[in-house]
Amino acid sequence: MTLASKAKVAIVGYRGMVGSVLVNRMLEEDDFALIDATFFSTSTHGTPAPKVGKYDLGLIGDANSVEELSKYDVVITCQGGDYTNEIHPKLRATGWQGYWIDAASALRMKDNVSLILDPINKEQLKQAIAQGQKDFAGANCTVSLMLIGLGGLFTKGLVESAIVSSYQAASGAGAANMRELVEQFGAIYNDVAEDLADRSKTMLDVAAKVQTKLSTDLPAPYFGAPLAASLIPWIDAQHDHGFTKEEWKGHVETNKILGFADNTIKVDSTCVRVGVLRSHSQSITLKLKENLSVEQIEQLIAEHNKWAYLVPNEKQATLEKLTPTAVSGTLNIAVGRVRKLSLGEEYVSIFTVGDQLLWGAAEPLRRMLRLVLDAPLDY
Ligand code: HSE
Repeated sequence: MTLASKAKVAIVGYRGMVGSVLVNRMLEEDDFALIDATFFSTSTHGTPAPKVGKYDLGLIGDANSVEELSKYDVVITCQGGDYTNEIHPKLRATGWQGYWIDAASALRMKDNVSLILDPINKEQLKQAIAQGQKDFAGANCTVSLMLIGLGGLFTKGLVESAIVSSYQAASGAGAANMRELVEQFGAIYNDVAEDLADRSKTMLDVAAKVQTKLSTDLPAPYFGAPLAASLIPWIDAQHDHGFTKEEWKGHVETNKILGFADNTIKVDSTCVRVGVLRSHSQSITLKLKENLSVEQIEQLIAEHNKWAYLVPNEKQATLEKLTPTAVSGTLNIAVGRVRKLSLGEEYVSIFTVGDQLLWGAAEPLRRMLRLVLDAPLDY
């Protein structure tokens, strides 16, 4: 993008969870120095924007005003898919030629939209920009986290297929769901606190009381079922052939990010919501095209990018480094438990953990902004 002055960038949905993480990261990396930014909201427009570090962003814009948005060179939206479906076509219908950078899934599978994951597909993104493409979407969080963690295998064409079991945090479902999970933990504890203190009560007594609480009296309006002390093996809407939409995304988005035709790499997932706050974990069984040793596999992973972080397949290292607790709030993608399986020499099992809100959502967006501005990026 060549502009005489700083690019005008509209940031829509800046107050939501992904939007807040995005703004924090942009501040940490001083992205605001490169742009003339304005926050946009569907509800608080016309009021002064909160100060961002040393930057005063003026008044909040009206996110529903296509006319206002059309004055911007770049729109970054974390407002969600309904907003995209409503505003994006109207904005394009005005002839607007700016860049649309979107966290939502609404546009992801359209032909003229690239999925953003530049440590994996930088050349694809640069080529798309050079060819005049204007719409870009962040990918599904589990896909992004898997590909950055295992980029050294996927980008080298070494993977024939993958079977993924995910352990997805509440953050992927939204702020209200995270709150619900913490409240559920609290409600369960409050119910049995006296029994825990009473040494005459056995753990079976306590567990029975927890079970009663879970099955009869634990509010779960957002998840629809208790998540604390339980799990939910269903994420997103129903899709075809018994898959959920989240599981379908794992397959189609992996191939799209890698620039492959659909079905080049088969990715079969079972996506599970677990009582974790903000990092997604995945147990991945890869069928490789070559019989690589564990050492070769680890080397390929470690060499590929600076965020994939190898954890030795040992108990203490795993407890310290391969957990949501160790990874949350960082850009590290921990990769461990690497081992060959008895299924055959080309099968390898790997466990990976990454922060759903960082590489899984906000980070690719700010990096895409730098790509369209032709600004420096670290690799
Ligand atoms: N669909 C994901 C989840 C969010 O529910 O965890 C990240 O794309």
